[in-house]
Amino acid sequence: MRLIFLGPPGVGKGTQAVKLSQKYGIPHISTGDALREAVAKETEIGLKAKSYMDRGALVPDEVVIGIIRERLDRDDCKDGFILDGFPRTVKQAEALDEILKAMGVELDAVLNVEAPDDVIIERLSGRRTCRSCGRVYHIIYMPPKKEGVCDVCGGELYQRDDDKPEAIARRLQVYKEQTAPLIEYYEGKGKLHRIDGSQDVDGVFRQITGLLEGEKADYEKEEG
Ligand code: AP5
Repeated sequence: MRLIFLGPPGVGKGTQAVKLSQKYGIPHISTGDALREAVAKETEIGLKAKSYMDRGALVPDEVVIGIIRERLDRDDCKDGFILDGFPRTVKQAEALDEILKAMGVELDAVLNVEAPDDVIIERLSGRRTCRSCGRVYHIIYMPPKKEGVCDVCGGELYQRDDDKPEAIARRLQVYKEQTAPLIEYYEGKGKLHRIDGSQDVDGVFRQITGLLEGEKADYEKEEG
């Protein structure tokens, strides 16, 4: 299964992508995670990306397209993948079309997760991320067992620099200007599905799996 998660920052794309990746056994590919790892390791890409990310702007297209091209070429993507945070501009979507064409595969679905701005701001303001394993928590909706400590690896939980109020406002604006046009792009290709992201985590997951199981059944019927 080849999926894209589309939607504003903080709507819950990463949370759902992790759960789907576990359910279907296909890799979860997050450009945000890949870039944060590059920043932490102070690689050339990381040093270039940091200033864009901290202020809530998009990293240049050619940098993220390069990351995705290299990642999709790995063996574990042969049976499918979940893209989270890519594409984010029409140029990235067009580059992805070419990459998939060269691989001889097609997208199954684009899941557009939606929620009002006040829900998003509350989710981002309360998000805490593990510095060691990257697991995501929320101080109210998904709190760790022990405050400030990751349940899985015992790592320190921190607040991302781009989860501070000025960066959140900028990210929402960037989303509306540069990423929202992708809704029309994928609607035109007949791939877009709208998901109500304002429900709780399990409610959103049920909508997504219900939809995907339907798609899978249709696909299997067509294949005979
Ligand atoms: P990235 O890391 O992709 O950030 P984002 O798209 O802004 O998405 P987030 O990770 O903030 O949110 P999410 O939707 O995954 O929500 P989450 O599940 O964590 O990108 C960061 C930066 O990298 C960008 O600003 C840009 O600079 C750069 N970048 C990345 N990709 C790029 C690209 N393709 N091109 C250019 N630049 C790029 O959930 C949020 C919180 O809510 C959590 O605390 C979670 O616990 C909680 N939560 C989740 N679901 C629910 C629910 N249903 N109910 C209650 N709480 C919930």
